[in-house]
Amino acid sequence: MPLTLVDETNEALPVWLAETGGLDALPEAARAWARVSRFTAEAGSVLIVPGQDGRPAGAVLGLGKADHRGGAAEWRGLLAGALAGKLPDGEWRFAKEPATIDRDVATLALLLGQYRFARYRSGAKGDDAQPQIRFQAPDAIDRAELAAVADAVFLARDLINTPANDMGPAELEAAARSLAQRFGAAVETIEGDELLVRNFPMIHAVGRASASAPRLIDLTWGKPSDPKVTLVGKGVIFDTGGLDIKPASGMLLMKKDMGGAANVLALAQMVMARGLAVRLRVLIPAVENAISGSAFRPGDILTSRKGKTVEIGNTDAEGRLVLADALALADEEAPEMLIDMATLTGAARVALGPDLPPFYTEDDGFAAELAAASRRVADPLWRMPLWQPYAANLSSKIADTNNVTSDAFAGSVTAALFLQGFVEKAAVWAHLDVFGWRPKPGPTGPVGGEAQGVRALYEVLKQRYPGAPI
Ligand code: BES
Ligand code: ZN
Ligand code: ZN
Repeated sequence: MPLTLVDETNEALPVWLAETGGLDALPEAARAWARVSRFTAEAGSVLIVPGQDGRPAGAVLGLGKADHRGGAAEWRGLLAGALAGKLPDGEWRFAKEPATIDRDVATLALLLGQYRFARYRSGAKGDDAQPQIRFQAPDAIDRAELAAVADAVFLARDLINTPANDMGPAELEAAARSLAQRFGAAVETIEGDELLVRNFPMIHAVGRASASAPRLIDLTWGKPSDPKVTLVGKGVIFDTGGLDIKPASGMLLMKKDMGGAANVLALAQMVMARGLAVRLRVLIPAVENAISGSAFRPGDILTSRKGKTVEIGNTDAEGRLVLADALALADEEAPEMLIDMATLTGAARVALGPDLPPFYTEDDGFAAELAAASRRVADPLWRMPLWQPYAANLSSKIADTNNVTSDAFAGSVTAALFLQGFVEKAAVWAHLDVFGWRPKPGPTGPVGGEAQGVRALYEVLKQRYPGAPI
């Protein structure tokens, strides 16, 4: 990686922080250079300040207006990620202990900002050639912790960015297995027709039209006596929509429909790398929602693992079907915490846009913890309601439920309500409807796959179940 965190020495060049309209606070030479360069300290902008010998003497990181995102130090911390792509080679440090930005978030952002997806680039060229930056970590930063978090985020991004021809159900399984091997976890998979034998009818139905066999990946780690935390991730490696086929524009990005799986694997990596005191289980239904003669059809009625019958109103609402069987299995052992993550609905994006995933839970205490953690680590999430009156809109005339509503309202809420119908025993259940994709480049990463809500969830788990790093 082009940016490494190093111990403090006296060598490093300073990075000053400046708000828009606040250039006066800079040292004189930097201020003069900022003025002639018409640098306005826009959020995430970086100005390199040259010395008399023409080499860099320092840099200014723009923080934007004083009230950028309410002026919260945590959100502002993310802006430091811009430095990873914009500083030239050399050793750097923050000029002062940054007070206006959160140190932990800023240091993590430096790591996150250097990510590039280079797997399919032959040779480093153009944009891919990155400067080599050594950055002095501010005092009291837990570098091992930040590195573990950044590595896990990169795992999620890599998995999502890898196209479906190289990230099918088998490759997703291989990714789970290599993670398991690294941390001494166990993996069992149930594949193909065995899904029918072991009673996962909906995972089988959604995935059976693909040339790559559908499977349920089941990873476990930790002491059996520790509190059970189970993560379920939607692993639709490509979503054509099935027979209710998506238009080209809607299908283009559907390699990211395993974003939920990528996110829970990233969260699992954080938990295992830092040795949290939990018995962790990760369940990933890994399927391709493909089209062939064996595809499931609109109007079909499936009997789910839980016994509930589901009329298929739309084959494009496949994520909730595979999740329902996985959630039912997870729920059977009544975990203390059951969290699922899924690129479940376009409607979540209509409601909150791509950068602010909604989460759903009936547990107000957990919701408050998650919302606070989301702010603390600057990982945006927003609670939406499990509005029970809308559950009636999922009713079917001939089966126990339909997989879609007949109207176009509250799509993310009704999808969450559908899932809720398969969870009974878990002490806490939360569902995150994530986008899994960064549509515009930002300080903490380029356009492409993104981990969302994972750092916030990890923060909650860390508070609840502190452990010892292994
Ligand atoms: N994978 C999609 C949801 C999706 C689409 C997430 C675009 C992110 C971006 C999901 O399987 C789907 O197609 N959902 C349908 C549900 C509808 C048929 C009720 C949707 O959102 O349109
Ligand atoms: Zn779909
Ligand atoms: Zn989907």
